[in-house]
Amino acid sequence: MKLIGPFKQIIPMTGLSLKGAISDNQLEIIKDGGILIKEGKIRAVGEFTEMLTTVKSNEIETHQLSGDHTCLPGLIDAHTHICFGGSRANDYAMRNSGKTYQEISKAGGGIWDTVTQTRKATKEELVKGIVKRAKRHLANGVTTLEVKSGYGLSIPEELKMLFAIKEANETIATDLVATCLAAHMFPKDYSGNPEAYLEEMVTNLLPILKEENLANRIDAFIEEGAFTPEVIEPYFKKAKDLGFDITVHADQFSTGGSEVAIKHDAISADHLEASTEKEISLLAKSNVISVALPGASLGLGCAFTPARKLLDAGGALAIASDHNPGSAPMGDLLTQAAILGTFQKLSNAEVLAGITVRAAAALNLSDRGQLDTGFLADLSIFHTNDYKEILYNQGNFKPCMVWKKGELVYNKHKH
Ligand code: NIG
Ligand code: FE
Repeated sequence: MKLIGPFKQIIPMTGLSLKGAISDNQLEIIKDGGILIKEGKIRAVGEFTEMLTTVKSNEIETHQLSGDHTCLPGLIDAHTHICFGGSRANDYAMRNSGKTYQEISKAGGGIWDTVTQTRKATKEELVKGIVKRAKRHLANGVTTLEVKSGYGLSIPEELKMLFAIKEANETIATDLVATCLAAHMFPKDYSGNPEAYLEEMVTNLLPILKEENLANRIDAFIEEGAFTPEVIEPYFKKAKDLGFDITVHADQFSTGGSEVAIKHDAISADHLEASTEKEISLLAKSNVISVALPGASLGLGCAFTPARKLLDAGGALAIASDHNPGSAPMGDLLTQAAILGTFQKLSNAEVLAGITVRAAAALNLSDRGQLDTGFLADLSIFHTNDYKEILYNQGNFKPCMVWKKGELVYNKHKH
């Protein structure tokens, strides 16, 4: 067993409702706390000195901290595309010179450009890229990262990406949660129509994902220029019948996607920058978790997801980085979540829940995102005696230590 502490504050993120607004005074704060760990899981959270005396010293390895430390659950980034080849710095420059994301896409840039570059990369090169990016996220406190395919857009190329994600997952401390995004856009080199493409994915790709344990989640980009609600309908239905969880790129530039998400009982609807009162109210009434992606708003220079309205309407809100080479190249969850909080007037509790407990729910994971007995011992530790300092510094204040499943996997002073 291991005992870590004392922490000036432990913010366990327990006892919070999944849906609706949360005020900071609803956050439990454990003062002078300790965390007892056994076999990668939390055995107990409590008062450090009490724990020191109750646990027999010969059974315990103590990691005594000196100075001010505050502990949050390991952060969870529930939406990324960090498996890719090449760069889209040209798109960024073009957008900032006045072209829109969709104009660039129509002219042959955008997602298709990354598809071309990702297809050129070997699986090993993709693994290297994922590992490099995941390590950076880990240093920012992220211990669970969702990673999508979707730059392959053919059966062998989607498989190459998903095998790369699986291999990367085996080589790093971070847990990577893979999602198949074969329905990212209709591939320009496909000989049939979108219906035929999706049917081929259902018949020949989805069963392999199960057999090879490559992904449990299916995503689609519902948008003008990507897939329509009508075309995606049978795809999602069949994916659900095969036992996959559904998640949707919804309402990014135009509405329609969030209704599809609700209809198919998706775990989450992500983006939602274009959602109107109607979609906000439908989402809030549903079990679908709304995922705001401030990194895409910052990358594209467009409006943020109406996070405040979603929460006030009673919705569940997670926040993710959308880290990808096109719309969201920054890939810094804490910075983006803090900035979203500033613009959308979110409490510390709402932002922190969005990247911990509510983000776990957006990945359908019930073993993380909170610091309590039985949960994974995933910890983000910051050098402060007040948790409010973390978001106040708008991402410029990084963790000094990160633990994953009870192991110290990042120590700022050693990097
Ligand atoms: O979440 N909107 C669609 N997909 C990604 C962007 C992917 C890209 O531009 O390469 C997103 O923003
Ligand atoms: Fe995305």
